[in-house]
Amino acid sequence: MSDSIDHVLQEEHLVAPSPEFAQRATLHAEDYQQMYRESLDDPEAFWGRVAGELHWHTPWTQVLDWQEPHAQWFVGGKTNIAHNALDRNVQRGLGDKRAIIWEGEDGEIRTFTYSQLLDDVQRAANVLTSLGVVAGDRVTLYLPMIPEAVIAMLACARIGAIHSVVFGGFSVNALADRIGNAESKLLITADASYRRGAVVPLKDNADAAAQKAGVLEKMLVVRRTGSAVQMQDGRDVWWHEAMQDAGTEHEAAALDSEHPLFVLYTSGSTGKPKGVVHTTGGYMAATYLTMGAVFDLKDDDLFWCTADVGWVTGHSYIVYGPLLNGASVLMYEGAPNQPDWGRYWDMIERHKVSILYTAPTAIRSFMRAGDEFPNRFDLSSLRLLGSVGEPINPEAWRWYWRVIGGERCPVIDTWWQTETGSIMLTTLPGAFPAKPGSAGLPMFGVDAAIMNMQGEELEANEGGYLVIRRPWPSMLRTVYGDDDRYRKTYWGEIPHVYFAGDGARRDADGYFTVVGRVDDVLNVSGHRLGTMEIESALVSHPSVAEAAVVGKPDAVKGESVVAFVLTQSGHTVDPAELRKHVTREIGALARPDAIYIADALPKTRSGKIMRRFLRQVAAGQEISGDTSTLEDPAVLERLAATPVQ
Ligand code: WTA
Repeated sequence: MSDSIDHVLQEEHLVAPSPEFAQRATLHAEDYQQMYRESLDDPEAFWGRVAGELHWHTPWTQVLDWQEPHAQWFVGGKTNIAHNALDRNVQRGLGDKRAIIWEGEDGEIRTFTYSQLLDDVQRAANVLTSLGVVAGDRVTLYLPMIPEAVIAMLACARIGAIHSVVFGGFSVNALADRIGNAESKLLITADASYRRGAVVPLKDNADAAAQKAGVLEKMLVVRRTGSAVQMQDGRDVWWHEAMQDAGTEHEAAALDSEHPLFVLYTSGSTGKPKGVVHTTGGYMAATYLTMGAVFDLKDDDLFWCTADVGWVTGHSYIVYGPLLNGASVLMYEGAPNQPDWGRYWDMIERHKVSILYTAPTAIRSFMRAGDEFPNRFDLSSLRLLGSVGEPINPEAWRWYWRVIGGERCPVIDTWWQTETGSIMLTTLPGAFPAKPGSAGLPMFGVDAAIMNMQGEELEANEGGYLVIRRPWPSMLRTVYGDDDRYRKTYWGEIPHVYFAGDGARRDADGYFTVVGRVDDVLNVSGHRLGTMEIESALVSHPSVAEAAVVGKPDAVKGESVVAFVLTQSGHTVDPAELRKHVTREIGALARPDAIYIADALPKTRSGKIMRRFLRQVAAGQEISGDTSTLEDPAVLERLAATPVQ
């Protein structure tokens, strides 16, 4: 291994960590090799040691019970992740350390020490209990990026209620689907949220979704903007009033290690979004470990993950991972270009952020906005940069490294998924050189491989499917209410391995490069969208008879949504109206960038739409590949000549 590292170091596309970084780093190449080997050879000892650093009310009797495709970790153990994130840190003397520094889009700043956060979470746990929420109940959160989102998540975890956070940019219908699928008892929302100075009426959306879903008993409403809202008698309660009345004494519930911690909805290639279920003990151990190791976390770091808590990145690396480690996190409410593209850099300078974790799509937007924005600020507090959510192109990687990191901060590219719960592939920043564009090596306990559909492992540099050959602690346990879908999607594609749904290759040094989805899932600005979901939204409009959606490479967003629609006879399609309709059905993130109003779609004789050809049309490429299976190959020429709207 070290030979091969020496060898790759000579290649020019490698970027080694600066000697200053490497020297201060906790884990070096030998540590990684030894720990990685142990994590696979003796997972019980390895994970037992990691989990053993945290507090357990009752110790486990068995580290892993694996009955494919169902894993149980830390069997028989009882613990509480919120206790570990808060009480434990206060007990070990971190009570006065800053847990969260929050900045509103309007510049307001609120700071919570570990003691203060614990206080609020205890109060909120009492509020939930007083509203009749008990362990196992589902609670949906539809909130802006405000500290109450973190407090509400931890309060749920504290009493064993299962949180389901729904991104605040989702529409009424998307929210209603998620509330309905989870059969949530309580919805926690806010009067409204700020986004680029505009006010987004969350409570109005919540009211409409509550009516559609029909299952909610209570609604807890945080006051953020002071907008006028309708409070429904007997159902709606103001957060600030309930918090004021609640006591700060609260004992965290001792929960089974496999007690569900949260459901998080994500898009798949078929049907409605699926509720990915994560449980307590394993998720806790893996987010705790990866946060410390991957980000080489030090006591004095200020960590900023720019994701929204509505996505898994926010769950694992704004909330659970950092707080379990007793870290200080910066949390920001708003848009990166508010008031201008200097906002992040201004915040980094003012708060002295040392680790920044963001997405390639944001990096590409910053690149496009120009170096003058970051160059205006002092970014010398930064020591490490991370990327997540989609493949990062080498050009964006280099810009991030040079302009933001001053060629001083390692850039780590982290591959993982909602389903994996924690980072799965990345090179440890102080241990290995990075290869821009390649995520890197597997994390501890991750037995990753590249296979073909027959389950044969491929040679170095051959492209294939990314799989994981054994369970890891933060693996999803099931799809909420649909275990069959869990089996089929993740363990039923290639026998006996977890199928990630991504195409990838591994080079001779063992570095993995993840190329993108191999299913009908788009990645638009780092957000997963199912083509089927958008198609059903389109055909639910009266003017549309049929629709096909594909992705088109986009210089900033990674991919953009392109829709091909057939007009319902007797109607005309209005592209602007159709975009509004998709926004209403799913959310602005799914709005098609380009719409082709077509007279036919390229279908095989058996009626299957050949999306491959649509992708070529969308990208403006020459049609290539065998068109002879098409019922009417001339469709493609007509589509290529169709104006884009
Ligand atoms: C993609 C986000 C390449 C991938 C944590 C995956 C990546 C999907 C990377 C999961 C990366 C995420 N390099 N591709 N570093 N990180 N992806 O569930 O296609 O929102 O399957 O989780 O994003 O997206 P999700």
